[in-house]
Formats: sequence, C-alpha cells, structure tokens
Amino acid sequence: MIKVQNLTKRYAANLAVDDISFEVHEGEVLGFLGPNGAGKSTTMRILTCFIPATAGFAWVAGCDVFTDSLNVRKQIGYLPENVPLYLDMRVNEYLSFRAELKKVRGKDRKMRVDESLERCGIVDVQNQMIGTLSKGYRQRVGLADALLHDPKILILDEPTIGLDPNQIRQVRQLIRELGEKHTILLSTHILPEVEMVCGRVIIIDRGKLVANDTPANLLTKLKTGSVIEVQAKGPAAPIEKSLRGIAGVIKVEAKSNTGATSNFVVEAGKDRDVREDIYRAFVKNDWVLLEMKKIAVTLEEIFHQLTTMEEGGAVVKEREQQATAGIGQMVSGLFGKKKG
Ligand SMILES: Nc1ncnc2c1ncn2[C@@H]1O[C@H](COP(=O)(O)OP(=O)(O)O)[C@@H](O)[C@H]1O
Ligand SMILES: [Mg+2]
Repeated sequence: MIKVQNLTKRYAANLAVDDISFEVHEGEVLGFLGPNGAGKSTTMRILTCFIPATAGFAWVAGCDVFTDSLNVRKQIGYLPENVPLYLDMRVNEYLSFRAELKKVRGKDRKMRVDESLERCGIVDVQNQMIGTLSKGYRQRVGLADALLHDPKILILDEPTIGLDPNQIRQVRQLIRELGEKHTILLSTHILPEVEMVCGRVIIIDRGKLVANDTPANLLTKLKTGSVIEVQAKGPAAPIEKSLRGIAGVIKVEAKSNTGATSNFVVEAGKDRDVREDIYRAFVKNDWVLLEMKKIAVTLEEIFHQLTTMEEGGAVVKEREQQATAGIGQMVSGLFGKKKG
C-alpha cells in the first residue's frame, strides 16, 4: 500500500531523512518508531504530499507521491503531529466543513460525518465547541477528520502525544479498531506503544532506518537474547564454523577480516550463555581469543537512546515464538551506524 524507496530529505545542511526504504502492506499497522528529531514527521509529510523530497521515490496505493498528489491524498487520512482545529467551531460543524473541503458532498456528507463521529466515540460531544474539549477528545476529532473521506490508508503522527494515561489507552484502542479496516502508518517515540498496536515496526534514528521487524522479535531479542562480539586471531573460516557449531548459537556473522584478526558477532538464544563454550572451542583448537564481549547490554542502551520507555516501565509479554530473524538486521544496522 505504501512503498518508500531511497527517500531523502535535506533541510539546508540538515539531513532529516537519509536514504530510507520500507513498505507498508495492505491491512498492516506499521509502527514508525524513533526519538524526537529522527525524521518521522518529515517522512510522513512527504508521504502526504505536504513537502517534496530531496531524492528518492514514494508510492501510496500505487500512486506516485510526487506526480499524482491529488490521488494520493484521496487515499490517505492524515493526522498531523499538531492537529490544527478551529476551536470556536462545534465538532459536527467542523467535520461537516472539513468533509466539504474533501469533496464529500450531498447526503454522503452527513452520513460520513455521523460515521466518523461514531467510530471515534465523539457522538456525545458533537455539539460542543472544540475549544472546550480535552486534548484526548480533540485528538479524536482529528482522527474523525482523517476518516471523513473513508480513506484506505491512515497516516497518524504521534497520535497519543500529550495525552493522559487514560486518554492514551482509549486512543490506542481506537487505533487498534481502525487497524481492522485500514492500513496504518503510525509514528511514536514510545516503545511499548508499538507493541500494543502494531504488527511490525521500523525504527528510524537520525534519518536512518535501523530496524524493521515485528515488535515481538525486537523485544524478545532485546530483553533476553544475547549477542557476543568475538575478536580472534587464527583462521577465520574454521573459527566461524566452530562458532556456528556451538549449542545455542543462532547466528554467526563475520564482521571484518584484516588478515591477522577476524571479528564475529555471535547471536545466542534466550537465556543461553555461550561464552564458556566459545572459550573452550578456542582453547581446544589453539586459536587466540583476543576479545569477547557481550553486547546485548549495549544494544539495549542504544535502543534506549532510540526510544523512550513509558513511565513505570513496560510489561513485556513473553512470547512463545523464538525470535530468529531481525536482530541481525538490527545489529548490522547499529554497527553500520557506529562505524559511519
Ligand atoms: N521545516 C524544517 N526546516 C528545517 N529543519 C527541519 C524542518 N522540519 C524538521 N526539521 C529537522 O529535521 C529533523 C527531523 O525532524 P522531524 O521529521 O520533525 O523528526 P521527528 O518527527 O522524528 O521528531 C530534525 O532535525 C528537525 O529539526
Ligand atoms: Mg514528529
């Protein structure tokens, strides 16, 4: 439904979005996670045709964002970061006015306004001035606005920002319900939020995409998997083979080989400390183990910098599913970033 290819946006000297590519499939709720200033809103503004990109391509429902903006906008309901509302209009007046702007005409208009009011749970406040509504309700008005023309795709920019915990819960529930009928791209800087609402998450940091996986995979790996960096002196190929043979090792990635020394990133399964086995394999083969360090903590730290944990800490549900994909991508993404 959405395809982004090598998208780049530069504001003068500031590279806000740096060569990112991703896809949002039909029916999917994709979380777009990253700290403030990562480039989320910029990407969303490009996808909704509010600003042009510096380079790259993007399509929404098959329509080119740069050459076919009218059709793109028809397919998209957009909730911007700061919902611009007319505070001295009544909710239903405002939505009716917005529907007219979106060319929802005739008896369709009343029907669409009523349906949006209903879906966003604001029927009771429809005659109230927007200025008298709480932030949570204003957010719902913004969502109702985004739904007026019955778009297939919703692009929601930090829909729960600035809400109190109760309102956050309600808006998340609403998004989950909307996700049953719509394809959604949702940005947030809150890690548990994506776990609650999104089927898949992409993480952006300083304009670069650093991860693309299911929240369960990312969280399981971050919480319980271990990643060990090994620097060795000895024949790279046999060392790699031997590391792969250790029980509990999921993946071995050869990082660099300078001839004399070689580096590996070893991923081990949940609750499995493979460091002793690695040590023994080296001793047995008379290879030199120059360095071995557990980098799961570092990953978590980096991830922590990338995201904000919710107050009180997140309850991370244990998944039965053993995550095997994803962390490699994440690790290489993070390594790539460290080097660059
Ligand atoms: N209109 C603008 N002019 C110049 N720089 C901007 C503009 N909008 C955003 N930026 C910069 O681009 C980067 C990405 O911003 P943004 O997309 O808003 O991030 P996010 O939504 O992830 O917080 C930031 O460094 C921000 O300061
Ligand atoms: Mg933003």
